[in-house]
Amino acid sequence: MKTFISHFRLFAAAACTIAAHPAFAQDANAGRDLAAACFTCHGTNGNSVQGVPPSLAGRNSAELLQAMKEFQSGKRPATVMHQQARGYTDPQLQLIAAYFASVKPGPAQLPAKP
Ligand code: HEC
Repeated sequence: MKTFISHFRLFAAAACTIAAHPAFAQDANAGRDLAAACFTCHGTNGNSVQGVPPSLAGRNSAELLQAMKEFQSGKRPATVMHQQARGYTDPQLQLIAAYFASVKPGPAQLPAKP
C-alpha cells in the first residue's frame, strides 16, 4: 500500500505540473485531467469497483467540494483522503468536482493504471 501511494504521489505531481501550464489550464478537459489522479482508487471516471472507496461519478459538485474542504481541514475523518485533498488548490478542486458531477454513474471498471 505504501509503495502504491508513493507511486500515486509521483503521478499526481506530474499531473499538477501539466495542469499548471497556462495553455493546459484553459483546456476544456482540465477537470478530467486533474480528476484522473483520483481514478486509481475511485475507479475510471469515478465509478469505483464495488463502491469502495465510494464512487464519485454523478455526485453533486458542491457536496464533493465540501467533502474535499473537510478532508483538507481534517474535519472529516479519513485514512488517505487528508493527504489526497491537500495536494490541490480551490480552483483545482472546483474543476475536479465539476468533472465528477458531469459524469454519468455507470458500471464499475478496473482502476486506471498510473
Ligand atoms: C489512494 C487512494 C485514493 C485516491 C488517490 C483518492 N481517494 Fe478519495 N477516498 C479514498 C478512500 C479510502 C476514501 C474513504 C475515506 C478515507 O478513508 O480516506 C475516499 C473518500 C473520498 C470522498 C468521500 C466520499 C464519500 O461519499 O464519503 C471523496 C469526495 C473523495 N474521496 C474524493 C477524491 C478525489 C476528488 C480524489 C482525487 C483528487 C481522490 N478522492 C483520490 C481513497 C482515495
